[in-house]
Amino acid sequence: MPATLAASILSADMARLLEQVRLVERYADSLHIDLMDGHFVSTLGIGPGVVESLRPHTDLRFHCHLMLEDPLALLDVLAKAGTNLVTCHLEAVEDDPAAAIAEVRARGMDAGLAINPETPAAVLLPYLEQVVGVIVMSVHPGWAGQAFLPEVLPKVEALRAEIDRRGLTVDIEMDGGINAETGRRCLEAGATVLAAASSIFRSGDPAASARTLADLVRSVP
Ligand code: DX5
Ligand code: ZN
Repeated sequence: MPATLAASILSADMARLLEQVRLVERYADSLHIDLMDGHFVSTLGIGPGVVESLRPHTDLRFHCHLMLEDPLALLDVLAKAGTNLVTCHLEAVEDDPAAAIAEVRARGMDAGLAINPETPAAVLLPYLEQVVGVIVMSVHPGWAGQAFLPEVLPKVEALRAEIDRRGLTVDIEMDGGINAETGRRCLEAGATVLAAASSIFRSGDPAASARTLADLVRSVP
């Protein structure tokens, strides 16, 4: 399946958010939107109001990455705001991940699951048939601008092998510290989506940086 680029708006200049989206719109396939609650992670992220405000202005797919202790509480508002894909953290819904996936899908959105760097890939395996994608965090969630953790790459290889073995089309999205160099390593390991915030929006030339990453994902056969 073709690899794609997700522009993560956490590092965008929020005072000029729509302009920033416009800069990357033709290179990115989706907007990666980080929601954080100060509990699952100790900081705050983007709220559903931003999703709703941006929705009428772009045709990009909206992927909400929920770093929330109670992700299900926001599903109604996210569906109404026009979210296409919702990814809950496995660590936040570990009591019943299948039920969380079902709640997302019941609202007409695609569902995904994310794992933190220290969470083994094996916990995702029972749910691969029920999700369109998984996020393998390559930094500890909470902040943009951290260094890529290469020790997560064996998890990507293991997930790719299992997804292919089952004949599924589940995306493996990498999130954290992604630039052209780390992104290439992720694609080689079997990732199909690169999410990048700082390497795009803090680069001084977001359009050029997004184009470089888009060329990279499109170079995958
Ligand atoms: C981290 C977020 C990431 C973040 C990535 O908690 O989930 O999506 O925006 O930022 P960079 O690309 O700067 O590592
Ligand atoms: Zn994210």
